[in-house]
Amino acid sequence: MGLRPAFVANVPRFRLPSLRACQISPFRPSPASCPTFGLSSPGGCQSQPWRSLLVRGKRTTTLKANELPQGPIDAAPLDNLDDDAGPAYPTVMQQVRNNMRKFPHCVVLTRVGNFYELYFEHAEHYGPLLALKVAHKKTSVGPVFMAGFPYFQLDRFLKILVQDLQKHVALSEEIRNDVSSKIKAGGLMFDRQISRIITPGTLIDEKFLDPWENNYCLSIHVDPSSSSSDGSEGPAGSQSGGVGLAWVDISSGEFFTQSTTFGSLSSAVALIGPREIVLEQSHQDHKNSRLLQVLEGDRHKITFHEAKVQNQSPDGWVATLKETLGEFKSDSYQHCELGAAGFLLEFVRTQLQRSDIALEAPVRRQASEYMSIDKNTMKALELKETLREGKLEGTLLHAVRRTSTKGGARLLTQRLISPSLSLGTINERLDLVERFLSDGVLRQRIGGMLSSTADSTRLVQKFAMGKGDADDLLALAKTIQLTEDVSNTLESAMLDDATAPGSVFSGLLNRLSLQGPKRLARRISVAIDEEGLSEQHRIEADEAATMVGLAAEVLSEEGEEKTGSKGKQTKSKQSERSSNSDTVPREVWIMRRSASKALERLHRDLDELDEQREELCHELRETAGTSGLTLRWSSGLGHHVHVKGSKGNMLNVESARRISSSKSTQSYSVPLWNFLGSKLDDARSRIRSEEQRVCRELRAEVVLNLVKMRRNATVLDELDVACSFATLTEEKGFVRPLLNHRTSHNIVGGKHPVVEAGLLSQGRNFTSNACSVGEDERILLITGPNMAGKSTFLRQNALISVLAQTGSFVPAQFAEIGLVDKIFSRVGSADNLYQDQSTFMVEMLETAEILKQATPRSFVIMDEVGRGTTPEDGIAVGYACLHHLYHINKCRALFATHFHKLADMTEGFEKLGCYCTDVEESADGTFAYVHRLRKGVNRKSHALKVAQVAGMPKEAIEVANEVLKGLETPAL
Ligand SMILES: Nc1ncnc2c1ncn2[C@@H]1O[C@H](COP(=O)(O)OP(=O)(O)OP(=O)(O)O)[C@@H](O)[C@H]1O
Ligand SMILES: [Mg+2]
Repeated sequence: MGLRPAFVANVPRFRLPSLRACQISPFRPSPASCPTFGLSSPGGCQSQPWRSLLVRGKRTTTLKANELPQGPIDAAPLDNLDDDAGPAYPTVMQQVRNNMRKFPHCVVLTRVGNFYELYFEHAEHYGPLLALKVAHKKTSVGPVFMAGFPYFQLDRFLKILVQDLQKHVALSEEIRNDVSSKIKAGGLMFDRQISRIITPGTLIDEKFLDPWENNYCLSIHVDPSSSSSDGSEGPAGSQSGGVGLAWVDISSGEFFTQSTTFGSLSSAVALIGPREIVLEQSHQDHKNSRLLQVLEGDRHKITFHEAKVQNQSPDGWVATLKETLGEFKSDSYQHCELGAAGFLLEFVRTQLQRSDIALEAPVRRQASEYMSIDKNTMKALELKETLREGKLEGTLLHAVRRTSTKGGARLLTQRLISPSLSLGTINERLDLVERFLSDGVLRQRIGGMLSSTADSTRLVQKFAMGKGDADDLLALAKTIQLTEDVSNTLESAMLDDATAPGSVFSGLLNRLSLQGPKRLARRISVAIDEEGLSEQHRIEADEAATMVGLAAEVLSEEGEEKTGSKGKQTKSKQSERSSNSDTVPREVWIMRRSASKALERLHRDLDELDEQREELCHELRETAGTSGLTLRWSSGLGHHVHVKGSKGNMLNVESARRISSSKSTQSYSVPLWNFLGSKLDDARSRIRSEEQRVCRELRAEVVLNLVKMRRNATVLDELDVACSFATLTEEKGFVRPLLNHRTSHNIVGGKHPVVEAGLLSQGRNFTSNACSVGEDERILLITGPNMAGKSTFLRQNALISVLAQTGSFVPAQFAEIGLVDKIFSRVGSADNLYQDQSTFMVEMLETAEILKQATPRSFVIMDEVGRGTTPEDGIAVGYACLHHLYHINKCRALFATHFHKLADMTEGFEKLGCYCTDVEESADGTFAYVHRLRKGVNRKSHALKVAQVAGMPKEAIEVANEVLKGLETPAL
C-alpha cells in the first residue's frame, strides 16, 4: 500500500520515498556530499541530484546504503520539492503522482472534468472503503488503479474519509493553464494543484459539519521551562513558562487562547472538545513526552505538524489575520499562548493552501472567569454526553435546550460547560431571561424572527474564507433584514419599559451595528434575481441527476481505455449525449439587470441581438418556405439551421451548406446565423463575466462588514439563549436563583431536570428535596437504601449550581447560591483497563484530584467513595476523604455512602449533617421508596429488595436473606 499511518503534515525534508525499495533509511544529503552520489544529475548538485533516484522504470538505480552521504544537511522548504523528471505516466496521472509525493500524509482527490478521482494505491485502498468501483487504466508504465465519483458528491465522500476514517484529504483542483504552461504540460488545458487539505479540525462549510457544535482545532504549545515545573498560570504578558492553548473554529471564526498547567490540561482540553489537536512535530519523536502522556487515552485525533517557521513572532502571524484583526496587543497574552496561536495559524494556513482566512484577534480566556469543571465531572454530570453511551438524549443540554437557531445552540453548549464566575454577567443574563419570561408575546416574536435567520456566524465566515455564492449572499441579506427587525422590535419593547431603570435590552442593542450591513443587504437584494437563482438550481439538479446515471458508465469506460485516448473517447461520448439535447443554450441570469450599469448595457445589447435572431429566423423561414425551420446550436454541429420535414427549399438561402441529415430532419450551416450566433455567445459570456464581477464586489463588501456582522450574529445567539431559557422556565416552572459571594447553598424544592423529565414521561412524579449546605452544615453525609435517590440528590444540586451560573433559572422553588469556583463530582464506577487502571484505581485517581484541588469556594459531590474494595478499606478511605474535605478543603460537599459507620465516626465533625432516604414497608409485604430526604442515618440498605425486583432467582434471594441474618449481628 505504501501509505503511512502517521499524520505528518509536512514531508520530513528530503525523505526519499523511492529509496525504500533500496532498503535505505531516510537520509538528508548535504551540499558537500553531493559528488559522492555518482548519479547522472542534469541539473548538478544545485538542482537536487536525488531527483534522478525517483525516476521509474529502466532509469531506476539501486544504491547501497554505505554509498549514500550521511549526516545533517541544510534542509530546503517543502515547496521546493520538484516534481518527477519526465512524464513516465500520462500527464494527469503524473500530476497526481507529484501531488501524492508532496502530500504523503493525505489521500489525494483529483478533479478531472466533472469527477473527483483517486489513483494508484489510493484508489486501490480507499476505493473499496468508499464503495467505489476500482478500475485499471493501462499506461505505458503498467496498469494504474483508479476510482472516482461525480464532483457534486464530494461532501458525501469527504465525510467518510475525513470524519469516519479520520484521514487528511488533499483536494486537487483544475487550474487553467496559460499558454506557456499549456505547452509545457503537453497541451493540457489544466494543471492540478492542491487547493486545500481537509482535516477533521479544519472544516469550513461541508455538509457534514455538525451545526449544533463548534468544530475546534486546538494547538498546545509548551514553553520549554514548563516541562520541568508545573507551569502555574501567570498573568497576561508574563514571559514565564506554561502550557499555552489556542483553538479556532474556522467554520465560525471563533478564536481563543488560554494558558493552563499540565495538571489542568486534560480537563481544559475536554471542555474545549476539539475535533483535532495539532502538536509540533518534535512531540511525535518523544513518545514519552509529558504532553502526550496527558492526552493519551482520551481518544483525541492528534496531528503532528512541522511548522515552516519555528517560533514565529506575533508580528509574523498577525499578518495572517489581515485588517479584520483590529487592535491587537500581544502583551495581553502569555508567551505560551502566543506560541500556540502562531503555530495554530501556521497549521491552518497550510491546510487552506489557497484560501484566505480572516480572523479577529483571539479572545483570551482566563480560567478565573469561569466555574472550573474538570473532565471527570463533566462526564459524571452528563452535561452534554451521557456517561454510558455518549449520547445527547439524557443529558442536561438536551433537557434544557429550547434554542431556535444553530448559533444559539452552540452558545448554550459553550455556556453550560463554562458557567460564569461573575455575578454581574450572570445577573445580566438572568435579567434578560426574566424580561422574556414576563412578555411571552415579545419572546415569540423574537423567536420567530430568529428561527428564520441563517446560521450567520458560519455564513459570514464562509465569506471570510473567500467562499460564498449567490445563495449565501441572499441568506445574508435576509438575516441582516431580520436583525434589523429584531432590533426595531426590541427598541419598541424598550419604550414600553420606560419606567424600568435601564432596560435589559440596551446593552445588546448598543452592540448591534446595522449601518454598513443594511447598505450591503440592499445592494444584494437589488442585485440578485431570486427567480433566476432558483431556475439555475432546477437546471443544476437536472444535470446532477443525469450525471449520476452516467457516472458509473464513464468511469468503467475510462478504466478500459488505453493510454492517451481517454480525453478523446470521453469527449466523443459526451458530445453524443449533448448533440441530442442541445438547441438554444438554456441561459439563466442570477443577477438583475439593474445590478450594475454595465450589466444593464450588456442586457440591452443581448436584447437587440435576440431581436435580430428573431428577424433572421423569420426571414429564413420565408426564404426557405417552411415554418419547421429553427436556429440552433449543439456541441457537435455548432451554430446551425435545423429544418424539420421535407418541405421547404434551403437552396434559396444564400451560402447554406448541408452538414447533417436524418430521415426527417436536416441541418445547414448558414453564414448569417454563424455570425449572429457568435455575437450572441459573446454577449452572453460578457454578461456572465459581469455577473461574476458584481458577485465578487458584493463578496468584498461582505468582508468589509465582517466584524460588524460577526458581532451582530453574537447578539442574535445571546437573544436566542435567553429566549430558550425563558421558554424552558415557563414550561417547567423553574425559579430565578439568587446568587451571592457567600459559600453556601440554600435550595428549597430542588429537582433533577433530567430524571424528572424521564419520570414524567412514564407518568411518575419526582419528589423535590431541599438542600442547605455551607453554613451550619458544610458536609451532608447521606445514607439510605439502594434505589432511594441518593445519587439523584447529589447530582441535582450540582446541576442546579451549573445552571444558575450559566444564567438560567433553576428547577427549584427557591435557590440562593454562593458562587462556586470549582465543581467536582466523583460518581459511579468505571475502569480504564487499556490504560492500566482498575476500577478502584480510577476512583482513587479522581478522588485524589478533588482533595488536591477543592477550595473553600468549591462544591464537591462524592458518591460512594470507597465501595470498590473491602468494607474495612472502603470505610477507611471514605473517612479519610470526609476528614480531608472537612478540615483541609473546607468546601461544600455532599457525600453519599452505604457505610453507615462513617456517620458514627464523624460525630465530632460539628458542621457535618447526616441525612437519609427510606423504604416504606406495608403489612402486605409491599414496599415503596421514600425519596424525600430527612435528617438522620438509615442503617438499612435493603439491597435484597432491589435484587428481588431485578429478578434474581428466588432460591438465591433466600440464601442471601439467611446470610444477611447471620452477618447482621456484629454490625460493621
Ligand atoms: N427524588 C426522586 N423522586 C422520584 N424518584 C426518584 C427520586 N430520586 C431518585 N428517583 C428514582 O430512583 C432511581 C434511583 O435513584 P438513585 O440512583 O439516586 O438511588 P441511589 O439511592 O443512589 O441508589 P444506589 O444506592 O443503589 O446507588 C432513579 O433512577 C429515579 O428513577
Ligand atoms: Mg447511587
